[in-house]
Amino acid sequence: MSSTISFARGAPCAEALSGDLIARCTAAALAKDATRILSYGAGNGYPPLREALAEQHGVQPDQVFITNGSLQGFVFMLQSLLQPGDLVAVEAPTYDRALLQLRLNGMEVLPIQVQADGLDVDALAAACEAGRVPKLLYTIPNFQNPSGATLSGAKRIRLIELANRHGFTILEDDPYGRLRFEGDPIPGLHETAGGAPVTFTSSFSKTVAPGLRVGYIVASPEDAATLTAAASRTYISPSLLAQAAINQLIADGGLPGNIEHVTALMKERRDAMVEGLVHMPEGTVCTPPQGGFFMWMELPEGLSADALFAPAADAGIAYVKGSDCFVEGGERTIRLAYSGVSPDEIREGMSRLGDVFRNAVSGG
Ligand SMILES: Cc1ncc(COP(=O)(O)O)c(C=O)c1O
Repeated sequence: MSSTISFARGAPCAEALSGDLIARCTAAALAKDATRILSYGAGNGYPPLREALAEQHGVQPDQVFITNGSLQGFVFMLQSLLQPGDLVAVEAPTYDRALLQLRLNGMEVLPIQVQADGLDVDALAAACEAGRVPKLLYTIPNFQNPSGATLSGAKRIRLIELANRHGFTILEDDPYGRLRFEGDPIPGLHETAGGAPVTFTSSFSKTVAPGLRVGYIVASPEDAATLTAAASRTYISPSLLAQAAINQLIADGGLPGNIEHVTALMKERRDAMVEGLVHMPEGTVCTPPQGGFFMWMELPEGLSADALFAPAADAGIAYVKGSDCFVEGGERTIRLAYSGVSPDEIREGMSRLGDVFRNAVSGG
C-alpha cells in the first residue's frame, strides 16, 4: 500500500517552518542579550517579549504570561485559577486536548453547540437563565479547532454582554486568527471588551513554529501573578531562547511577512481539500473554513466516522474522529487538517477517503 497520508495533526507543513529566519533571529538575540537569555529568568517569560505583546494587546507587561506553548498556559489556568468541580462551558465540538485537560482536572463541562457562525450564544444564555452559569467559557472564536467556524461580530458583542451580566470569565483562545484567507478580520473578544471579562491566549505554534513552544496569556495583573507563581514552582522559568527568537522576529518586523507566507501555504491546501469534497458521498455536509488549519465534515445519515476510522487507516488515511471533540455524540463528524500535508497529498487523500466512504454507503 502507498504511504499513509495524515489529515490528523494540526501542525504546519515543512515549507511553513522558516529555519533560516529563526536561525538569524536566534543569533541576533544571543548577540544582544546572551547572559539574560541563558540564565534562569522570570517565571512569566522573557521581559522584552512580554513588553512587545503587552503593546500589541494594549495592556501592561505584568498582564502577559508566556509559557512553553499555550496548552501549558491553559493547564496552569485550570490548576491555579479554578477548582475541581467548577463548571466550564465549551464549544461542542471543541479542541480535544483542552477537553481532555478539563476532564483530567476534574471540571464539570457544559457543552454549547457550535453553529456556522460560531458558538450558539442563545443556548449559553438559556443555560445561564436556568442557573447553569459557568465559571469560565472556553472559546476559540476564529477558524475554530476543530470545526473551522468563526464567531460573528454580532455574537461577540452579545457574548461579552452575557459574561458581564452573569459574571463569568471568557477565555478567548486565538492561535489561528491571523491566518485568514478571505473576508475581513473581526475584532477579538478581549480587544472589544477592553479587558475584563475576557482572558486572552494565543500561540506562535501555528504562525511561526510549534517546536519553539511559545504561547502566552493576557490576564488581569492578579491572575497573571498567580499563573507566574504556578510556573515558577513547576519549572522555575520557561525556555527563554525560543522566546528571545520570537521577540527578535517581532522587533525586526519579520512576523507579518512570515504570517503572509504561512497563510498562502494554508490557503492552497484549503482549496485543494475543498475541491476534494467532490469525492464524498451525497449528503456530506461541510462549510469550508475561511482560514486556519482545519476542515470539518459531517457524513450522511447511516455512516459513522468512528466505525470508518479503521477502514480509512487501511486505505492509508488518518483523521481525527469528531467524537473525540465532543463530550458525547458526534459520531458522524470528522476533523481533517490540511495544514501539514502537500496539495498533491490532499488530492490523493481526499480521493482515497471518498472511496472508503462511498463504499460504505453502497454497503461494501
Ligand atoms: C485551539 C488551540 N489551542 C491551543 C493549542 C496548543 O498550542 P500550543 O502548541 O501553543 O501548545 C492548539 C494546538 O493545536 C489549538 O488548536
